[in-house]
Amino acid sequence: MHDFLRQLPKVELHLHIEGSLEPELMFALAQRNGIELPYANVQEAKDAYDFNNLQEFLNLYYQGMNVLRTEADFYDLAMDYFHRARREGVVHIDMHFDPQAHLQRGVPLEVVMGGLLKAKQEAEQSMDFSVGMIMAFLRDRPADEALHVLEQAAPYWKLIDAIGLDSAERDHPPEKFTSLFQRAKEIGLARVAHAGEEGPSAYITQALDLLDVERIDHGVRCLESSDVVERLRRDNVVLTVCPLSNVCLKVVDDLRDHPLPELLDEGLNVTISSDDPAYFGGGMLANHVACADAFGWSEEVFDQLTRNAIEAAFVSTDRRTDLL
Ligand code: HPA
Ligand code: ZN
Repeated sequence: MHDFLRQLPKVELHLHIEGSLEPELMFALAQRNGIELPYANVQEAKDAYDFNNLQEFLNLYYQGMNVLRTEADFYDLAMDYFHRARREGVVHIDMHFDPQAHLQRGVPLEVVMGGLLKAKQEAEQSMDFSVGMIMAFLRDRPADEALHVLEQAAPYWKLIDAIGLDSAERDHPPEKFTSLFQRAKEIGLARVAHAGEEGPSAYITQALDLLDVERIDHGVRCLESSDVVERLRRDNVVLTVCPLSNVCLKVVDDLRDHPLPELLDEGLNVTISSDDPAYFGGGMLANHVACADAFGWSEEVFDQLTRNAIEAAFVSTDRRTDLL
């Protein structure tokens, strides 16, 4: 089964590129940019990745990305992950990135976009690999700041596929961003949002009704409401579920208690992703292997999950046909 999973051409719909920053690269970039890290060495950083909830992770996630300063840093970050993912059998990634987290630190949008787009272009030319771009907005920051950043990104609208909504979910309901998502729709961008990770199932309904999203990132708490489950099934909404992330952030105690099998039994459109592979114990292969070990799924189940991801990925019609 592990060999099957390694060679299965996998498609990842939920990946924060800043969360792919491995401690080794963090140290290399810190040295290159003359930045002092709060860790003495790589092992100390890894030991610090021990979280009780989403906020504890986010604190280290925002701290870690402080080493990203130049276009070359963003290029190296993305290329490092693309190569690693490709070696694990990944053929497409829809990549979230967090412009506000960089603008806040004085890193211009052009630096972020320049580095990420160069990596995307090079990876798409040199390996059997494609990349979708999801400009994500931080839900724990003001809605008017998000709108301003979206307008500032006008030169890049044609180069991105979607907007997303991430960061601390509790007390930051989707409705706060209704205008932002309306504007993105006017511009012609697709829309996704994190909902029902730590937040209640009502946030999933809000994201569908008010933000008009076509995918829900995480969404595992939908099972707390049979109405929400029914809605997701009726509209065939894709859930980008991240099993190892949910264990690391204590959304579930143990992978064997994860609601993935129940989501499948409910007939929902489930996919598997890694979320923040550098922080949560591995990438797409590790997530697939962990699910095989915890749930005893057959090859047919993994084939179905992969087809679900291919059908929902931000790719051209030709590329989708190639992947299917
Ligand atoms: N949830 C919310 N925000 C995030 C995450 C996540 O899992 N990863 C990076 N930003
Ligand atoms: Zn996420």
